[in-house]
Amino acid sequence: MAEIRRERPEDAAAAEAIVAAAFGPGRFAKTAYRLREGVACVGELSYVALEGARIVGTVRYWPIMIGAEPALMLGPIAIVADRQGKGIALALMQTTLAEAKRLGHRAVVLVGDEPYYGRAGFKRIQPYGRITMPGPVDFARLLGLSLVEGALEAMKGEVAKARLDEPVAASGCALGR
Ligand SMILES: CC(C)(COP(=O)(O)OP(=O)(O)OC[C@H]1O[C@@H](n2cnc3c(N)ncnc32)[C@H](O)[C@@H]1OP(=O)(O)O)[C@@H](O)C(=O)NCCC(=O)NCCS
Repeated sequence: MAEIRRERPEDAAAAEAIVAAAFGPGRFAKTAYRLREGVACVGELSYVALEGARIVGTVRYWPIMIGAEPALMLGPIAIVADRQGKGIALALMQTTLAEAKRLGHRAVVLVGDEPYYGRAGFKRIQPYGRITMPGPVDFARLLGLSLVEGALEAMKGEVAKARLDEPVAASGCALGR
C-alpha cells in the first residue's frame, strides 16, 4: 500500500506534474481555480502518496467561505495514470479528511463525480442552489461533507475566496495548479 504523508517543499514539483497530467491546461479555466487564485492552500492538509521514493498521488485543500462561514474546498486530487484504481485517492481523502476534522474544520465541498466521491462520504448539496458558486456549476457535481454533524446543512450562500490577495508566493501552493 502507498505511504500517505504530508507534502514537503521538495514534493511540490512532482505533485504539480501529476495534476497537470491528470487535468490538462483546461483546469485553469474552472471555477474552482478562480477560488484558489491569490489564496494559499491549507498547508497542513497538503498530502502526497508515495510508493518507495516515487510520488504517485497528491491532494490539496483551499480555504473558502460559504456565505459567512469558513469551509474547505477539496482539490485538486490526482493519481498518476499507471497507479489509478488501487484505492490511493480514497486513502488520501480518508487521511486528510480525518486530519481536517481534527484541526477543527467543519465542512468540505468539491466539484466532482458523486459516484466516486460518495465513497469518501460526499453527497450532492441539496436543495440545489442553497450553496452556489461564483461561476457556472453543475449542481449534480457540487458535493459536500460535514466534518461536524449538521455543519454543511446549516450553510448557505455563494462560495467565495477565504482571503483576498495575500502574499502567497512562499506558500508552495500559491496559484492552484
Ligand atoms: C479520480 C482519481 C483521483 C481517483 O483516484 P484512484 O486512486 O484511481 O481512485 P481509487 O482507487 O480510490 O478508486 C478507484 C475506483 O473509483 C472509480 N472511479 C474513478 N473515477 C471515477 C469517476 N469519475 N466516477 C465514478 N467512479 C470513478 C474507478 O472506476 C475505481 O472503481 P473500482 O474500485 O470499482 O475499480 C484518479 O483516477 C485520477 O487522478 N484521475 C484523473 C483525474 C480525474 O479524472 N479526476 C476526476 C476529478 S472529478
